[in-house]
This record gives sequence, C-alpha cells and structure tokens, in this order.
Amino acid sequence: MPLAPARYGFAGDHTGETPAPTSNALTTLIKLDSNENPFGPSPHAIKAMQAVLATCSDYPDDDASTLRLKLAEHHGVQVEQILVAGGLTEFLGMLARAFLAPGLNALTSQRSFIVYRLATEAAGAQLIEMPMLQDGFDLGGIAAAVNRNTRLIFLANPNNPTGTMVTADDIDHLLESIPEQVVVLDEAYYEFAQDFAARRGITYSRSLDYVRKGRNVVVLRTFSKVHGLAGARVGYGVASVDLIARISRQRSMYCVSILAQAGALAALEDSAHIRKAVENNTHESQRLYRALSEIGYAVTPTWGSFLYCDIGRGASNFAEQLRVEGIAIRPLDQWGAPEAVRITVGTPEQNDALLRAMTKLKNS
Ligand SMILES: Cc1ncc(COP(=O)(O)O)c(C=O)c1O
Repeated sequence: MPLAPARYGFAGDHTGETPAPTSNALTTLIKLDSNENPFGPSPHAIKAMQAVLATCSDYPDDDASTLRLKLAEHHGVQVEQILVAGGLTEFLGMLARAFLAPGLNALTSQRSFIVYRLATEAAGAQLIEMPMLQDGFDLGGIAAAVNRNTRLIFLANPNNPTGTMVTADDIDHLLESIPEQVVVLDEAYYEFAQDFAARRGITYSRSLDYVRKGRNVVVLRTFSKVHGLAGARVGYGVASVDLIARISRQRSMYCVSILAQAGALAALEDSAHIRKAVENNTHESQRLYRALSEIGYAVTPTWGSFLYCDIGRGASNFAEQLRVEGIAIRPLDQWGAPEAVRITVGTPEQNDALLRAMTKLKNS
C-alpha cells in the first residue's frame, strides 16, 4: 500500500534521509546515503529485541529506567542527568520547544545537520547559520554572532555533512566566551571521531566533563550510528539535573519503545560490534579518501562515518547516475552545496563497488 506522499516528502526533503525501499529492485541498492551502520544492528541487540517481541502488547517503561541507569553508570553521571528519546531528531525538537519561541534564535553553522533548522522553526524561532571556515564550524564567528535573543547553539561535532571536527580546546574557548547560552554538543558520531582523534594524538571531546562540572551544555549521543539501530529510534542527552528536568517537560509519553530500550541496552554491551564498525570506518574512510582523491574528486578529510566530496558538477544528476549503478549517495543541494555529495563509508565490498562506479562516472 502506498504511504502518504506528505510523509515521504518530509523524510526525503527535510531530514535528507531516503525513504525505505518500496520494491524488490531497490532492496539490492547499496545504501551509502544516510550514515547508517553498514554491518547492521549489533547481533546482541537483535537477540534482545527478539526476546521482548511478545511483550509488545505492554506499554514501555516510560522512564526508560534500566537504560538510563546503565547510561548513567557508563558516563559517571547521575541518572537524573540522562534523558532518553526516540532518537536525537526527537531530542532536538524537545530542546527547541524548551528554550526557543518566536522572537528568540538559535545559532549554528551553514551546511550542518538539517534538523537544527526544522526544530528551531517548528518552535517559531529563527536559526542563524554562520558561514563556514574551511568546511568546518567557525566558532569565533558563532561566538561573535550571539545576541540577547540567542538561547541555543547547535554544534554538530563531527559535522554532518562535511565530516569536520572542532577540538576540545576550541570548545573550551567557546564555552568561556558564552557562559549564558545553552551549547548543544551533538556527538552522534562520537565513537568514530574518538578513534580518529586517538590515532592522530588529538583531544576530540571533553563534553561529559563539562556536564560533570555543571556547565551549560547538553551532550547528545545516539544508537543510530555505531550501534546500527537507526530504525529502532533511540538516542539520549546528558546535562545538568536542571537542564534535563526542563527538557523532559517537552517529552511525549512512551516515546522510546520496548524494542528500542531492549536493543539499546544490549548494544551498549556489544563492544565487539562497536569495535568492528569503528575499525572498518577508520580504515575504509582513509582508503576511500585516497582512492577518490586519486580519481580526481576533492574530498574533505573526515572525522565521522561519511565523506564530503566536491565532485565539480551537478550533485543531484551525479547521484541519479550513481543510483543507476546501484549505489545511493546524498547530493547536497539542499545544504547549499550543489556540487557536493555525502558518501557513507560502507563495508570493503560496498566501497569497492562505489569506487568502480565513481571511476566510471569520472570518465563518462
Ligand atoms: C549530527 C547528527 N545529529 C543527529 C542525528 C540524528 O540521529 P537520530 O537517528 O538519533 O535521530 C544525525 C543523523 O544523521 C546526525 O548526523
């Protein structure tokens, strides 16, 4: 049965995600367009979700108490400092409703996560997007743009779609210069960035230290990326007890399903799956970076699980041609980059197929 067009329109047009395949032909598509985990969910998470299927006639634990307890232990904070939601997309909506209103604004960078705009505008507020500095956040520019109506600052770190990172020292400086506004540190790709940073001898993030010290920050993490649970919809925020209490008031009841809670709990424990995804990403992103650069594409070094690539021609048309070759990538016209694409790092086999197709298109 066809789904309502408006719903598909929302997914495709605004969040930048591809609607689920609707025919058998599409199920063979190599999906490198939505920054999903190419290895799927943690096998432990699949088992845990299967084990609770028969209990889905009950409502879920509205407090997600077991999951929050586990996350609190994991991060060394109090359980009241954790709020779980149906993915970060939902969390961003709660944040916007909690802090924004008509006449107020939030700040971020151009070419950043598209939901910052959606959530801000849905709250009737204005999103101010500052120009980028070499494909990354210009934190000095953002600090200078704060005005008396600014309530939130959204920092995607690493940034989606450019893959760039700001260091812990950069964020220290930002926090010193703007003590009043709430800074949202969106670390959806935390595990990938942390691995790159450790190998490169750089301190990526002190985000949870800020929370422990009572700074005005909200740290966001998701189960959609390294844990492979994007379809289960579960993510969380960590902040001071007061900030979490304020954001919680915007929460819908039962928004984290029984399946999502069970899957997330098991995924947290599955260090082998996390390691597999991270190691593949670190290795394969570097291989793709080198190979795509050699073919003649301009690639930005990544700190996430995807590559930002300037292809020097119309991105939508290029993505369509690549789709004919059986590969989906994300054209970035909507981000104001009509000649750039974002490519999720896949398995070695998927990446081989991508390189063959990108070579073919370069020569066509
Ligand atoms: C920077 C960033 N934040 C948040 C999200 C949303 O994550 P979730 O699946 O938890 O809604 C994404 C997803 O692509 C992202 O790239």
